[in-house]
Amino acid sequence: MTTQITKDINIAATALQSGKVVAIPTETVYGLAGIIYNQEAIKDIYRIKKRPLENPLIVHTHSAEIFPEIAVDIPEAAYKLAEAFWPGPLTILLKKNTVIPDNVTSGLDTVAVRVPSHPVTISLLRELKQPVAAPSANPFGRISPTSARHVLDYFDGRISCILDGGACSVGIESTIVGFEDGIPVVYRQGAVTAAQIKDVTGNVTVKTASTNTPKAPGMYPRHYSPRTPLVVTDNIKQALADFQGLNTVVIGYSKLCRDLVAEKKIILPESGNFEEAAAKLYGTLHYADSINTDIIIAERFPDRGLGSAINDRLTRASKK
Ligand code: TXA
Ligand code: MG
Repeated sequence: MTTQITKDINIAATALQSGKVVAIPTETVYGLAGIIYNQEAIKDIYRIKKRPLENPLIVHTHSAEIFPEIAVDIPEAAYKLAEAFWPGPLTILLKKNTVIPDNVTSGLDTVAVRVPSHPVTISLLRELKQPVAAPSANPFGRISPTSARHVLDYFDGRISCILDGGACSVGIESTIVGFEDGIPVVYRQGAVTAAQIKDVTGNVTVKTASTNTPKAPGMYPRHYSPRTPLVVTDNIKQALADFQGLNTVVIGYSKLCRDLVAEKKIILPESGNFEEAAAKLYGTLHYADSINTDIIIAERFPDRGLGSAINDRLTRASKK
């Protein structure tokens, strides 16, 4: 199979409608999409990604109008969150309606749903009139793709087409929020912060893999990993001393890091804002992984705003 990179929505729509798996751009990361009602396409997504079958997929659609089709017992807070953050990087867990095939949700009684804000994919979803399931377009456990090129590097010859929507503007996966006794619970951190959710709903709890026993099946502690070993540190200087003699690449943001003498160093973000750091994070990790060093040393970000989500991804990337 030759993998076609295209900007043409109709090509992607036709491929999806004929049951094929297509990579699609979103504002967070690229997804590996198949129509949720096509059993073969859903099976192919798991096969191509080598994803464990117990790890459910996120349903992507073009508006919250889908709620009654896919979910039941929808809490008022879910409507508020959809109103406030969609289209955008927020995934909402709802009690699933029976029409949602079990292989999309890995047999769970909940379904994850999100309306992405990428204009190309919104147009595609409108044209399809059917939702797609789309996990991040990387082999299981590897770094998520934030460009069509990243997807091609992973899956050339394995998928029919990649819809090229340019570089992802957010750059890390969506925030995942569910409800326990009506209270919003954040299971994966992302660009929509717990504080922003609280502003809308009045309360919030955070239970991510790094802070708690995972509730969401996909909250594997090790995830998003480069092949080169990665360490996360608050003290770049000390880490460099610790790994003296090894061929290292340093990724950091602070003045300390900027001033540091290191042969290979990537400053993230150059302009000093965390949105930009998140947008560049995976591209930087892909690059750092490609230059044949013994170790990647990454500086921990301050735990505020997007810094928490960035630290979550770095920590998981460091797990062996
Ligand atoms: O930003 C994103 O969310 C990207 C883009 C493509 O939209 N997608 C993404 O999908 O990150 P994926 O499959 O890499 O991560 C989805 C996560 C997994 O950890 C999965 O376990 C969790 O969502 N999830 C999906 N459905 C769930 C459910 N019903 N209950 C709990 N967790 C669920
Ligand atoms: Mg993923």
